[in-house]
Amino acid sequence: MDYKNIILKKDGAIGILSINRQNALNALNTEVLSEISKAVDELIHDEEVNVFIVTGEGRAFVAGADILEMKDLNSAQARRFAQAGLDVFRKIELCEKPSIAAVNGYALGGGLELAMACDIRIASNYAKFGQPEVGLGITPGFGGTNRLQRLVGIAKAKELIFTTDVIGAEEALSIGLVNKVVEADKLMDEAMSMANKIAQKAQPAVRYSKVSINRSAEVDIETGMEIEKNLFGLCFATEDQKEGMRAFVEKRNPQFKGK
Ligand code: CAA
Repeated sequence: MDYKNIILKKDGAIGILSINRQNALNALNTEVLSEISKAVDELIHDEEVNVFIVTGEGRAFVAGADILEMKDLNSAQARRFAQAGLDVFRKIELCEKPSIAAVNGYALGGGLELAMACDIRIASNYAKFGQPEVGLGITPGFGGTNRLQRLVGIAKAKELIFTTDVIGAEEALSIGLVNKVVEADKLMDEAMSMANKIAQKAQPAVRYSKVSINRSAEVDIETGMEIEKNLFGLCFATEDQKEGMRAFVEKRNPQFKGK
């Protein structure tokens, strides 16, 4: 499929979705959100893709939702706009394939919300993170009040959202907002290396692990452990479980098939 604001590539088992609307620092308007949604569908349905990376072209990851598109919305239109962002980010979060945000620059507002919907965040040392919304007269609307507190704790989330402070990559690392910080020119290598490491494991087990982690974060621990037990059980219906354990016993590397 052809995209106007997205570059979608594949490198072996790794999909790379890069947002490319550089004249607006990759700001998310309705068209960009719709293209991200379609690109994520392509990645989900592509059987060769095990893991995908989300990044931005140019000097921004994403500088937020598009302020020009939002400025004259009424409440009903704004709720629809928020729903569009929430839906596509939830699709990334809930799909079984792991995602890595390679944060190359500004990740503000909707940009930080997009990065937080990914499973893992790797930041360039130039990356900047923040939720500037209350300075524009709005609340975060693409999941920021929900996901930021889960990642950094409620007090830090309130501080960042109420003050709109923009923080650098090292501070983001120190509060648990990103997994890793690397030199800007190493960002994609590092993201690819982590993606390849994940892509070489047993994919049913990787995907069930993601489902179990996500679901158990949202339910009580008894329910979470029930989900974990059932997914653990499902692994034993896969060829990769047989291969993984046989390879251990035979002292060789496993040859996983992804089923
Ligand atoms: N929406 C629309 N356009 C944007 C944009 C955004 N979020 N962010 C940047 N742009 C545009 C600028 O208007 C500018 O366009 P022109 O060249 O046509 O004037 C272009 O991108 C380059 O930006 P700047 O000239 O401002 O670049 P800079 O280096 O001086 O500043 C910046 C960079 C600090 C990121 C600044 O652009 C900025 O503050 N952007 C807005 C950040 C923001 O407030 N994001 C949150 C949006 S609200 C939101 O996301 C709500 C939600 O949760 C759903």
